[in-house]
Amino acid sequence: MRTPGGSRGRTAVQPCGFHGIHGLHGFHGLQRGGATVTEAAETAESRTGTRGGSAADRERETVVEAALGRLGLDAKARLLAGQDMWSLPGLPEIGLRSLVMSDGPIGVRGVRWTADDPSIALPSPTALAATWDPALAHRAGVLLAQEARRKHVHVLLAPTVNLHRSPLGGRHFEAYSEDPYLTGRIGAGYVRGVQSGGVGTTVKHFVANDAETDRFTVDNLVSARALRELYLAPFEAIVENAHPWGIMTAYNSVNGTTMTEHHHLVNEVLRGEWGFDGFNVSDWTAARSTVGAIEGGLDVAMPGPETVYGDALAAAVRAGRTEEAKVDEAVRNVLRLAARVGILEGAEPVVTELPEQVDGEALAREIARRSFVLVRNENATLPLRPGTVALSGAAARDARVLGGGSATVFPAHVVSPLDGLTAALPEGSLTYAVGADPNQELAVADKGFTLRAECRDRDGELIGSGSAPNGHLQWMGNDLPEGVTHDTLHTVDLRGTFTPRVSGTHTFGIKGLGAFTLTVDGTVHFEGTQLPTEDSPFTAFFGAPEERARVDLTAGETYEVSLRQVVVQPEGAPLRMVGFSLVHQEPRRDPDELIAEAVEAARAADTAVVVVATTERVESEGFDRGDLRLPGRQDDLVHAVAAANPNTVVIVNSGSPVELPWREEVAAVLLTWFPGQEGGSALADVLTGAHEPGGRLPTTWGPLADAPVTQVVPVDGELPYAEGAFIGYRAWERDGKTPAYPFGHGLGYTDWAYESIEPSDGDGDSAATVTVRVRNSGARPGREVVQLYLTPVEADSERPVRRLAAFAGVGAGPGETAEAVLGIPRRAFEVWDEDAGTWAFVKGSYEVAAGRSITDRRVVATINV
Ligand code: BGC
Repeated sequence: MRTPGGSRGRTAVQPCGFHGIHGLHGFHGLQRGGATVTEAAETAESRTGTRGGSAADRERETVVEAALGRLGLDAKARLLAGQDMWSLPGLPEIGLRSLVMSDGPIGVRGVRWTADDPSIALPSPTALAATWDPALAHRAGVLLAQEARRKHVHVLLAPTVNLHRSPLGGRHFEAYSEDPYLTGRIGAGYVRGVQSGGVGTTVKHFVANDAETDRFTVDNLVSARALRELYLAPFEAIVENAHPWGIMTAYNSVNGTTMTEHHHLVNEVLRGEWGFDGFNVSDWTAARSTVGAIEGGLDVAMPGPETVYGDALAAAVRAGRTEEAKVDEAVRNVLRLAARVGILEGAEPVVTELPEQVDGEALAREIARRSFVLVRNENATLPLRPGTVALSGAAARDARVLGGGSATVFPAHVVSPLDGLTAALPEGSLTYAVGADPNQELAVADKGFTLRAECRDRDGELIGSGSAPNGHLQWMGNDLPEGVTHDTLHTVDLRGTFTPRVSGTHTFGIKGLGAFTLTVDGTVHFEGTQLPTEDSPFTAFFGAPEERARVDLTAGETYEVSLRQVVVQPEGAPLRMVGFSLVHQEPRRDPDELIAEAVEAARAADTAVVVVATTERVESEGFDRGDLRLPGRQDDLVHAVAAANPNTVVIVNSGSPVELPWREEVAAVLLTWFPGQEGGSALADVLTGAHEPGGRLPTTWGPLADAPVTQVVPVDGELPYAEGAFIGYRAWERDGKTPAYPFGHGLGYTDWAYESIEPSDGDGDSAATVTVRVRNSGARPGREVVQLYLTPVEADSERPVRRLAAFAGVGAGPGETAEAVLGIPRRAFEVWDEDAGTWAFVKGSYEVAAGRSITDRRVVATINV
């Protein structure tokens, strides 16, 4: 069946509305001979806000020019500076309302760090990439636009499309993949989805923000070839295919110039070569100089009110240090964005009819199960057979559903693996033991605590109160509880109750700077000052917690707890803020005893399920990882349980790769990423077999000792990307190393036979087309991600042995076939010619191989281009 309605490689097709494998309805429309799905199917979905050309665009430009013409220099300069943490000033004189931005990327937090207005928390970006499904990313985007509108947000600070250069990057959970093509496809789907709801995006962080160590100052030294072929590539693809309305420039420098002033990469490449017409916002506090930034193409400096723009920018123009025309250009970009999102009077927004309402919880669950990667499944251990299950692991009860830092949102509820399995399995068939607790340090006060913040002035009068999610306060700029200002605020009292779930010695601590008083059950346990240990204004958020009290408490009893801070603004802080946390640790039990308990339960059960995880101290924003080991005694737990029960299934709850030293000892391994708020339900769906796990690895998993790129720490402020254009699988292949699990790998619950591969000419954007026929050779319906890898026949040591050139998801019932028509983009045959400063198309013979991962290639053909 050739799909109707368009040219190959560029047609919107979903075979028969296939949504997972639950029930056969998804296959009713399949013709004999199967379905055809075209690669890049998602690209035909509306390119929201067509570039410059449409009549609506021209009308918006007219309104923008008229508005610009009515603004004086001071108002223009003011518009380019944040008025607070998240917004730009409105300018009533031209009918412009205040533009509001918010993080991003797995949910929309809104303008306050509060749990009072919860957000849907989708799975981590690594999970979204593991679905290898741009159409699903599009649907995620539609939901996020809906959330943004609900929270009066016009621009979402997402997606993050930096690359997994080294597995040590602490913020990898927030980026998609080691492969620029997969990143670009997922990112484009996401951006189109968000913008189809009339909400802008800022693709970030432009560019080469691939690690966190010294991220504010590091100078990444990257060859032109690596920049073009790897790090710029996803940005370019998204600009080309999804037309984002915004971009965020990174903290770091590239080749000597900080990114908020990078005239070449911003003005010449992004705007000049690629035709980007959106707005360019700095990462938060990344703008360093007035003239450097405006000349380097930075439109908006965030956050405010203290920025390098505003009065300083107007003064620079008046002093002749920069031209007003540059300011006009930036204002034009901001007004265009305002017009697009519908906050500039007289301009029709790009989206006038909103997409259908999305059920956020259902979508979070669907994305989660579609993202889980089953990397090992000996003797078809999964799905579970009827019988008893012994569940263990601290993260089974206290799931880590999202990554830390600016990506944090506060969901209304979280379904842990324990919750999900309890609901799904027959009563009496599930036991739970902690087994090993990786939280060896004080962590957020989120279990059993009810805390609110009370704000008082110098006289001790209550002037306001606010929520303190997880015992953490993060009030930046004027994000303060109602009625409170920085000038009137003197003390903050984090006050409430704590009801422990276990008896014993509980440890309490404080994260943050300043003078604190910690009281538990009527006794003052600490009164003193915590001083900065590092030279970073963000220590309060990213620094280490200090232990301050050990108190014996009884499970089920309710105790009063309070933590008071006398607020002092830290010197050198880029903006006024209040930020500190109460942290806590449950009584520590003998780790050997915990393991023994879990082993006992595992021995008695038909199947043992162990959930292992990273922690907030291991993977988060603001720092990198020192190793890839699972924290605490989790590896020991798995070894011991596996020895006691041959049907041991390990669930890995981490945002990015960890080492799995026991992987050959266990029956099955399922990677679940940070699975979002419905993760536990999705896990139950997959373990019980109601749905198959749909994910494929977006990044190679292997031990650190074999990882090709491990340098993330700058030396004298510089971080050379010495590996050039070889990261991820490109480097694993070049080094001849075998990873634990290769790029693209992932098992479902059925089998697939690759029957044929047939190359043909390309068309339009594709240099060649390849049709791959697969047959579902197993016993149940499934979805296969057909991956196409391209290898130049004539070896060339400067090019990767093979690269991902195209992919498409196809569904089929048992015994049925499906066809994937894969257009290989011209870019797959091109290299960046550093001498000429252009792309060079490399003619010749290429091997195209289709298969299930980069190492599991099933059918091969040769093409000449
Ligand atoms: C992060 C950005 C984020 C911004 C606002 C920065 O520290 O790098 O990704 O959008 O903060 O929260």
